[in-house]
Formats: sequence, C-alpha cells, structure tokens
Amino acid sequence: MANKYLIWGGKGWIAQQLADMLQARGEQVQTTTVRMEDREAVKAELDSVKPTHVLNCAGCTGRPNVDWCEDNKEATIRSNVIGTLNLADLCYLAGIHITVFATGCIYQYDDAHPRDGPGFTETDKANFSGSFYSETKAHVEEVGCPQQQQTSRFSTPHPHSTRTHAHIHADKRTPIQIMKYYNNALILRLRMPVSDDLHPRNFVTKITKYERVVDIPNSNTILHDLLPLSIAMAEHKDTGVYNFTNPGAISHNEVLTLFRDIVRPSFKWSNFSLEEQAKVIKAGRSNCKLDTTRLEAKAKEYGLALPEIHEAYKGCFERMKAAGVQ
Ligand SMILES: NC(=O)c1ccc[n+]([C@@H]2O[C@H](COP(=O)([O-])OP(=O)(O)OC[C@H]3O[C@@H](n4cnc5c(N)ncnc54)[C@H](OP(=O)(O)O)[C@@H]3O)[C@@H](O)[C@H]2O)c1
Repeated sequence: MANKYLIWGGKGWIAQQLADMLQARGEQVQTTTVRMEDREAVKAELDSVKPTHVLNCAGCTGRPNVDWCEDNKEATIRSNVIGTLNLADLCYLAGIHITVFATGCIYQYDDAHPRDGPGFTETDKANFSGSFYSETKAHVEEVGCPQQQQTSRFSTPHPHSTRTHAHIHADKRTPIQIMKYYNNALILRLRMPVSDDLHPRNFVTKITKYERVVDIPNSNTILHDLLPLSIAMAEHKDTGVYNFTNPGAISHNEVLTLFRDIVRPSFKWSNFSLEEQAKVIKAGRSNCKLDTTRLEAKAKEYGLALPEIHEAYKGCFERMKAAGVQ
C-alpha cells in the first residue's frame, strides 16, 4: 500500500513546510486542522482519510510567543498534553504510525551538563520547568512514574498515604516516558528551528528583531537538514524519542555574526544578561545542548547529511543569500 500522510496542525509553520516537501516528492499528503483534544472528531478524520502516517505538527506555541501559555494554562494543557496523547492513542488503535514534532526545550544546563560539557541524552529526565509551555511538553513524555501515579508534578500525596514527600521525590527520578511506550510513535525533539527564509517563526528572524539578545550556546534545528530526515524516519516507521537538532551547540552571537557576514553586512546587535532578559519575559527560556548520537546514526543509516551546527548555519545563510534574502 502506498504511503498516505496526514499532517495535523495543518496551517502551522512546520506543517506547511512538510506538506510542500511531500507534495514536491509526489507523495499523497493531506493536512487537517481538527482539534487534537476532540476525540470523536479525530477518530472521524482518521477513519475518513485513512492515512498510513500522521505527522503531528500541532501544538499550542503561544502568540506572540510562549509567554501566552503562562496566562492560558488550561488551553495549553488541552492541546499539548491531552490532545497530543489523544491523537497518538487513536493512531495506535487504528495501527497508524505517528511522528510527533516535539521540543527539546525541556532542559537547562546543570552541573552534569555544563555549557562546554556533554549534551542531554534522550533518557535524561527533563530539568527545565521555567515555562508552562515546556512543562506541558515535558509532561507528555514523562507522566507519572512506575510506582505511584501520585508522583506526577500535577498531584499531591493522598492524605492517608504512608508515602512521604521524600518517597515521592525519589520516585520523580524514574518517570515513565509515556509516549515512548506507544509502539507506533516517533518523538522528534526540535529546538529553535531555523528555515532558509526570514519567516517570523524562524529563530534567526526572532533574534534579529529583538532589541537585545543573550549570548548562550544552544542546540538548533536547521530545517533544511532535519525535515528530510523526519520524513525518512517516518517512512521507515522508526519509533522512540530522538533529539532532533544538528550536532553541537552555537551561541546567539555566533549565529548573528554568521548572519551579518553572509546575509546582511549592515546588521548590528547588542547583548544583555540572562538576569536582564528575565525582567522582560514572563516565562523562562530553556538553554541547553542535546546529545545527537542516536540521530547521527539514523542519518548515516539513511545516507542523509546532518552537518555540525556551525556548518549547517553557513549552508543555511548561503542559501538565503543565493535566494536574495537580505
Ligand atoms: N517553532 C518553534 O520554535 C518550535 C520549537 C520546538 C518545537 N516546536 C513544536 O513543533 C510543532 C510545530 O511548531 P510550529 O512552529 O509549526 O507551530 P505553529 O506555527 O504555532 O503551528 C502549530 C499549529 O498547531 C495548531 N494547533 C494548536 N493546538 C491545536 C490543537 N489542540 N489541535 C489541533 N491543532 C492545534 C495551531 O492552530 P491554531 O493557531 O488554530 O491554534 C497551529 O496551526 C509544535 O508542537 C511546537 O511545539 C516548535
């Protein structure tokens, strides 16, 4: 049977890029805007379209940015937790492979993972709870724990329980990565995605428009390199969790220096500290490097390039320049 792709969150930025890419390859592809948390409507859509693959690009990302999620927590949970699990569950019941475009913004540098140290692997527990958006994304991967449901960060101990907060704290170290138990689900953790144009959602567009930027190394997803790999992984029905960025980490100033040198020679910017940034944003922002060992092996297996992040940025900006972007 030929593959048939159904893309959820059909009007979104990444969804539209995937739809264009699949159409250009001559694949059967449809998009949908059905709300993920509406179980009956999702089931009806799956029954009607009968996809072999769902690409879930839907998510509550907030407008103008994730600060929105701080003030709209129920809506954020309904999309990013209930909706995401609901869609994966209905795909599971129908025998459909699902690729979830998730986020790696669930970590922050810590003593075991300093800025110049090892990146976070797929099995490291999320340690960033500075933004409600990231919390919901992390909870979809890690809900509850093997011993007791009550160890979820959403719940408190039952009044008659003999389990103390110390037990519960200990249990938090062994969360169930819920999504990875769905044997039809591939979870791709993107970070700060970058396209070859200056679309408003492109990470580069965002930081070129800020009055001041912090300067911290981060893992980034250059979509030109990573979207074809996501399609290859979906085609092969890969499952499990993958850090989905180019290898390595790059600082804001390194990105902007390359942007100035290749795309816009007149570009200037100024920096500020994390403390100063905290005064002008509502939700915290995750800064981290992800370990891409597993993904690099996949790219090699499928014969696809996955350049180191500095090289990937150079390629991206060269393509922008060639296309006349200024
Ligand atoms: N762009 C980034 O910086 C970034 C970074 C890492 C990960 N991601 C993840 O990648 C995915 C796609 O991101 P994107 O940048 O393409 O986001 P986007 O442009 O905001 O698109 C998301 C789409 O999802 C739809 N949506 C939201 N809640 C939904 C629900 N409950 N049911 C159905 N559709 C829903 C939105 O529609 P409405 O507007 O009508 O609600 C929107 O069209 C998201 O899950 C995001 O969290 C993005």
